[in-house]
Amino acid sequence: MKLVLLGPPGAGKGTQAKRLVEKYGLAHVSTGDILRAAIQQGTKLGLEAKGFMDRGALVPDELVVGIIRERLQAPDCKAGFVLDGFPRTVPQAEALDRVLAGLGSRLDAVVAIDVSDQTVIDRNTQRRSCPKCGATYHLVNAPPQKPGVCDNDGTALVQRPDDRPEQIKKRMAEYREKTEPLKAFYRKQGLLQEVDGGQPPDDVFARLVGALPRAVSR
Ligand code: AP5
Repeated sequence: MKLVLLGPPGAGKGTQAKRLVEKYGLAHVSTGDILRAAIQQGTKLGLEAKGFMDRGALVPDELVVGIIRERLQAPDCKAGFVLDGFPRTVPQAEALDRVLAGLGSRLDAVVAIDVSDQTVIDRNTQRRSCPKCGATYHLVNAPPQKPGVCDNDGTALVQRPDDRPEQIKKRMAEYREKTEPLKAFYRKQGLLQEVDGGQPPDDVFARLVGALPRAVSR
């Protein structure tokens, strides 16, 4: 299964991608996670990406397309993958089609997780993440067992720099302007499915699985 998850910031792409990975044994390819890891490691890619990410802007297409071109060739992607946060612009989507064609492959489905603007604000402002293992929590909907620390490894939880109100606004604007047009792009290719992401995670997952083509979701 080769799948793209689309959706505004905080729609639940990461949350649902982890469940899909568990159910179908897919590789989880999150450009946001890859870029945050590069920043933490202080690599050249991280240094280039940091300024864009901290202010809630998209990183230039050529940087992320380069990441994806390399990542999709890794052995774990052979059995299928879920792309979380990529593509985010029409040029990225066109580049993805070319990369996959070069590998003799194509996408099976694109699922857009739709949520209201108020949900975007709530989910992002209330999110806390573990800088060590990447686990995410929501202060109200999915709190850690012990306040402020990760259930998996006891590390102190942090708020992402782009989860502050000004940056959330910018990320929403970037989504509307540059990413939402991808719905029309994929609708035209007959690949787009849309699910309501405003429900509890288990319900969203059931709808998501139900929206996948039967040939790949059995
Ligand atoms: P990225 O990390 O991809 O951020 P995003 O798209 O803004 O998405 P988020 O990670 O904020 O949210 P999500 O949809 O995964 O939701 P989550 O499951 O965490 O990108 C960050 C930055 O990197 C970008 O701004 C850009 O600068 C750069 N970048 C990345 N990819 C790029 C690309 N392709 N091109 C250019 N630049 C790129 O859930 C959010 C919260 O809600 C959590 O607290 C969770 O517990 C909670 N939650 C989730 N689902 C539910 C539910 N159903 N009910 C209640 N709570 C829920």
